[in-house]
Amino acid sequence: MSIKTIGILPTAQSAEGYDFSRSVAVVIDVLRATSVITVALSNGASAVAPVLSPDEGFALAERLGRGNVILGGERNADRIPGFDLGNSPQDYTPEAVTGKTVVITTTNGTVALRNSLGARAVLAASLLNYEAAARKALALAQAREADKIVFVCSGNYGVLTLEDCCCAATMADVVLGLAPAGSVGFETDEAVALHNLSFGRPQADASLATMSRHYKRLLDKGYAADADLCLRHPGTISAVPLVCADGLLRDSRAVSK
Ligand code: MLT
Repeated sequence: MSIKTIGILPTAQSAEGYDFSRSVAVVIDVLRATSVITVALSNGASAVAPVLSPDEGFALAERLGRGNVILGGERNADRIPGFDLGNSPQDYTPEAVTGKTVVITTTNGTVALRNSLGARAVLAASLLNYEAAARKALALAQAREADKIVFVCSGNYGVLTLEDCCCAATMADVVLGLAPAGSVGFETDEAVALHNLSFGRPQADASLATMSRHYKRLLDKGYAADADLCLRHPGTISAVPLVCADGLLRDSRAVSK
């Protein structure tokens, strides 16, 4: 089956109750959750477990064996007390994560992942891996007989963010470029409007994203290096995190369909 429709949801909350049954969902939180997840798997983490709360994280870390786990994520953008790492992608080095399960909880990104679980496949994408993730979404749609790809932007506290919508729009361009001309339409007027944020160039998207309020907030909080890594290296990572049957994300290149 081939793709007929592209959806773009602006926030994690808009994925709640959405009918994903014939869809591949691509969850996006450029600043910073899905960038962190992508970097962690690219750098050798065996899996990433997205959870909704610090308590859920501590409990899962105990179950998996604390020594096998890196607890990561943020609240109010900062590292959570008792956690190993915050939400800075550059901290998820090969030395830190190789062979470990990263248990992560964030304000918006892990909520968006949880709200998208009804889809036939769920991927995590960011500007870092946007191209590989768009191609993977199409391949999985084919393999799992889905006729829709839905980009789920995480947003921030229920409000859309430019960086997520720009990433979704750029990925939609990749999908449109690979599909037969005229064969794919947008699901809603909202999706058309969000797609028009794209100039088809992730570099342009990165500069548009610097107008985002969340970007400015990260800068104010001293996380400029994170924002730089997330926005200025589009398409440089080929790892594509895929939610597996056990609810953990793994690099799709190491997972059979
Ligand atoms: C989130 O998931 O809410 C974000 O990753 C927040 C952040 O940038 O720390």
